[in-house]
Amino acid sequence: PNEPPMVFHWLPVIGSTITYGMDPFAFFFANHKKYGNVFTFILLGRKMTVCLDTTGNNFILNGKIKDVNAEEIYSPLCTPVFGKDVVYDCPNSKLMEQKKFVKFGLTQEALRSYVTLITHECEDFFKRHKTFKGQQGTFDVPKVMAELTIYTASRSLQGEEIRNSFDSKFAELYHDLDMGFSPINFMLSWAPLPHNRARDNARETMIKLYSEIVRKRRSGVAKKDSHDMIWHLMDCKYKDGVPVPEHEIAGIMIALLMAGQHSSSSTSAWILLRLAQNPHIVEELLAEQKSALGHHLPPVSYEDLQKLPLHAQVVKETLRLHAPIHSIMRKVKQPLVVDGTNYVVPPSHTLMSSPGFSAQLDNHFVNPAHWDPHRWDAGQNNYDEERDEADEEKIDYGWGVVSKGTKSPYLPFGAGRHRCIGEQFAYLQLQTIVVAFVREFKIRNVGGSKDIIGTDYSSLFSRPLAPAVVEWERRQK
Ligand code: HEM
Repeated sequence: PNEPPMVFHWLPVIGSTITYGMDPFAFFFANHKKYGNVFTFILLGRKMTVCLDTTGNNFILNGKIKDVNAEEIYSPLCTPVFGKDVVYDCPNSKLMEQKKFVKFGLTQEALRSYVTLITHECEDFFKRHKTFKGQQGTFDVPKVMAELTIYTASRSLQGEEIRNSFDSKFAELYHDLDMGFSPINFMLSWAPLPHNRARDNARETMIKLYSEIVRKRRSGVAKKDSHDMIWHLMDCKYKDGVPVPEHEIAGIMIALLMAGQHSSSSTSAWILLRLAQNPHIVEELLAEQKSALGHHLPPVSYEDLQKLPLHAQVVKETLRLHAPIHSIMRKVKQPLVVDGTNYVVPPSHTLMSSPGFSAQLDNHFVNPAHWDPHRWDAGQNNYDEERDEADEEKIDYGWGVVSKGTKSPYLPFGAGRHRCIGEQFAYLQLQTIVVAFVREFKIRNVGGSKDIIGTDYSSLFSRPLAPAVVEWERRQK
């Protein structure tokens, strides 16, 4: 049969592992030029078929479960981190129910309370953190934002007990568990290496910790006075009437912690690095807050966030150029004809989609490499995804109604049955952090340069190369 073209390589098993691994987007652009939207390359001995641009995004992300499968790819890496019976260690129908539990737990009331909690956490952090002593200085953005992200997410979504234990044992556990996502684990997640032993210990300890919290709460020691996700999951029941067991509550909470932490901390770091490159936007953001909320800058509420479109556009534009997930993978289950081609992909292949690639194409975006939050201003001639969405046939996965196909080149949160359910929370968290940050600080690149740092693709989630140091100065109030 007519298989997609194979990317040229010298070494059999290594194939294109090195060039892809160093910079996946440069690799995609180079081969897109040579072979077009569909080609196969060798990644650690596996045949990966990449399908680019909007047709490729749609083909892979909206694939049927009988054709493409996510858990076979993700489970070896994720199950030792999340534990049994959740996410990729269960049938897809069960994952859909678990996504529904989480999505339904993010009620308006919950989101409203999170804005207040996140704001408090930011204010505390900017006042007390050793990085921000005095009136001005420099800071390593990715390092500091990783810390702030975990505090804000745990105070809101994870709940008070988890937030409080972060100051002691939890940080270390989190670190050990996170080592489970080292890239080497793509091949060796089962191996009895020291980092995998530490991961397994950390997972068991963490499952115990969450289970204890659930039991304590159930015994009536703690009264339900917050909207965190643990309280919500304690009330959830599967379709067959069975409540979510403790170890599954724990597994879902760990999955949320991991999913949210890497993507949001990378994104918040990129936001600040882009703002440091463009200090005039920081002043525009502050001006937007003053004109929408009042010159005295009252505490921001969930409803206020809707009145700050430039803040949302800063997040949106940063996700266009710096999507933390550069490659999305699925196992092929039966021979598939790639949409829009006559290539056939056999079941021995893995499919790879990269919505971050279509977001950088000049047939969709004017001057695509340029970071400009104003490209999303009303009336700008950008790609009109909402118009397209409205035209499309819908499908209900239980956790939400999404388009059956997707024509948008801009999909930082994915599409189809595996689409992100954390988008609302991520936007809320990122916007609230930006609101608090620009109220307190000015930032700029060291010496006022206009450079932007490169991307580190060595982990599963891309992030700014560390260290990435910028200058801060506290505003006079
Ligand atoms: C799935 C991106 C934040 C929870 C996904 C996917 C993407 C994504 C691209 C699809 C993966 C695939 O198809 O294989 C992002 C970005 C975020 C973010 C860019 C922040 C800027 C969050 C947060 C949470 C979360 C904060 C939790 C509160 C999930 C879950 C899935 C998911 C549960 C579903 C996985 C599946 O169905 O297989 N996310 N995410 N994400 N994300 Fe996020």
